[in-house]
Amino acid sequence: MKEEITKIQADALAAIEAASGAQELDEARIAFLGKKGRLTAASSGMKNLAPEEKPIAGQLLNAARGVITSSLEARKASLRDEADRAALEGLDLTLPGRPLHPGNLHPLTQVKDHALGILRRLGFALAEGPEIETEFHCFDALNTPPEHPARNEKDTFYFDSGKLLRTHTSTVQIRTMESEKPPVRIIAPGSAYRRDEIDATHLSVFNQLEGLYVDSDVQVGDLKGTLEFFYRSMFGEDTEVRFRPHFFPFTEPSFEIDVKFHVKGQDPRWIEVAGCGMVDPAVFEEICRSRDDDMYDPDKVTGFAFGMGIDRLAMIKWGIKDIRLLIENDARFLAQFS
Ligand code: PHE
Repeated sequence: MKEEITKIQADALAAIEAASGAQELDEARIAFLGKKGRLTAASSGMKNLAPEEKPIAGQLLNAARGVITSSLEARKASLRDEADRAALEGLDLTLPGRPLHPGNLHPLTQVKDHALGILRRLGFALAEGPEIETEFHCFDALNTPPEHPARNEKDTFYFDSGKLLRTHTSTVQIRTMESEKPPVRIIAPGSAYRRDEIDATHLSVFNQLEGLYVDSDVQVGDLKGTLEFFYRSMFGEDTEVRFRPHFFPFTEPSFEIDVKFHVKGQDPRWIEVAGCGMVDPAVFEEICRSRDDDMYDPDKVTGFAFGMGIDRLAMIKWGIKDIRLLIENDARFLAQFS
């Protein structure tokens, strides 16, 4: 028995020494110490020994198991060291690191933040409303009659329930006046939806920034002053701004705002940037009915409202020719705005 154990131990140590990787080392462990391994088989031979021989054989077996186990551990550690050394070989720790590209805010987020910052300094507070709206909030309360073309199935996304995807953020004017007493001075950035043919200047989802100021004595001069200040802060002190008479069902008088742009090598151009006007008394009357009080009695309050496309602002600011670039998430395009 003794010779047998000595032989097994010697064979095991040789196999462990010869193992060239973790897999082979594990195979050696199984071959000697595993359930069907040679040392385990030798242990089961103990039952055939005479009683006085059993303790000695037991000691020898335990000693052999101990030697083989620690040899396995040692070999495992040295294999790991070898692997670590091999991995470090050829590694030059003095090389400069690879630069990280930290990314940047989306251009739309940048212009939106800029615009909100200017208007918040003027005292406008943020407001919001749902994108799935009722016809009342999107059209009726905004003095837009049933036969108005904007209400057409061809131009607006309707749900079977009769609700719709808001076609402009002017809905937030109504929601704000329904829930808050005058004076109100709010701005509401958000998405609007129209069934437009998609091309370089149209998407079916776009971003607007709505504004509303209602108080006891708001005048056209306040509207002009506020928006001129806004566009000069946005595009530079010398920016020329013009108000062109227009029509919106919910403002009277109404204007479209143009800003004059100077592009190198081209004649300066007026570009339309927003719609605005004095809140139509018919809107205030509808709010009084909806609130069931006279807080917004058109004899007591006046107000101005404006709505501008945020996508348009970004396109003008950076000379972006195709609106689709703003939603394609092409990293080469977006990285230019860092
Ligand atoms: N809601 C109008 C549009 O989407 C813009 C607008 C807002 C006009 C507020 C006047 C007052 O075209």
